[in-house]
Amino acid sequence: MTTWKLGDHTVNRIGFGAMRLDPATGVAVLRRAVELGVDHFDTAQFYGAANELIRTALSPYRSELLIATKVGPGTAPERGFYYAANATELRAQVDDNLRVLAVDSLDLVNLRVPDNSGSLADHFAVLAALRDAGVIRHLGVSNVRAEQLEEALTIAPVVCVQNYYSVDERADDPLIDLCAERGIAYVPFSSIVGASSAAVDAIAEARGASSHQVRLAWTLQRSPNILGIPGTGKIPHLEQNVAAGAIQLTPEELTTLTD
Ligand SMILES: NC(=O)c1ccc[n+]([C@@H]2O[C@H](COP(=O)([O-])OP(=O)(O)OC[C@H]3O[C@@H](n4cnc5c(N)ncnc54)[C@H](OP(=O)(O)O)[C@@H]3O)[C@@H](O)[C@H]2O)c1
Repeated sequence: MTTWKLGDHTVNRIGFGAMRLDPATGVAVLRRAVELGVDHFDTAQFYGAANELIRTALSPYRSELLIATKVGPGTAPERGFYYAANATELRAQVDDNLRVLAVDSLDLVNLRVPDNSGSLADHFAVLAALRDAGVIRHLGVSNVRAEQLEEALTIAPVVCVQNYYSVDERADDPLIDLCAERGIAYVPFSSIVGASSAAVDAIAEARGASSHQVRLAWTLQRSPNILGIPGTGKIPHLEQNVAAGAIQLTPEELTTLTD
């Protein structure tokens, strides 16, 4: 599996997204992921039991593991999920992650903004101050446009952008290239769950692979700064996803998928 330097860790380019972990199988899935070489886990305190499962399965954490979490969405039930947490709430979200993951500092925190058009400066500055204080080691941004990434970069270093992207949702193509130029990782979410596609299915069938594997392989081949975080609650699916790292799509197959 090829690697990328994400903050102070060199991680394999197929990581793991914890959002879909099932409490019944999550510990076994996470431990199997580490056995398979996965060393980059994406989580959030608002992903149900994900942080508890990560702590149970993986702590004390091996030094090569990078746990990336995210903060930002407000969580007052009466206001719904997608509004921006204020400074006090952001600090509380960071503290919740520290406590539940049982760490003294967070490897990587993404600021997940609810609206990808407004300024993120005030919120990002809160996290930048926590980075300066050593509570957070590296910062990323999520659900952002290029202008918001540029704004964040004026405040503190950004090691990754986490946005929605897949073979059939490619609005971020220019942003991926911008990140690559700047040495910033681009971490697509929901990149394998997309709608069924005849082109993907035909390549999968011809290769004896699954369409999820082909979608993941396509994503990784799109640019060397892309880090996959496929999520699953099932060990066989995890094993297939890791194995997709060995699939090299031919130039003809890539053309079929993107034209
Ligand atoms: N920043 C954000 O706003 C944001 C938003 C959404 C997600 N995320 C992050 O991105 C991660 C991935 O996103 P996602 O979970 O939406 O999408 P995804 O990883 O593209 O797809 C996950 C879905 O695909 C299924 N699946 C996974 N591997 C499979 C395989 N080999 N064969 C068949 N089905 C398979 C899973 O079900 P099974 O459990 O049945 O395998 C699950 O339903 C999340 O875990 C989370 O960490 C971030």
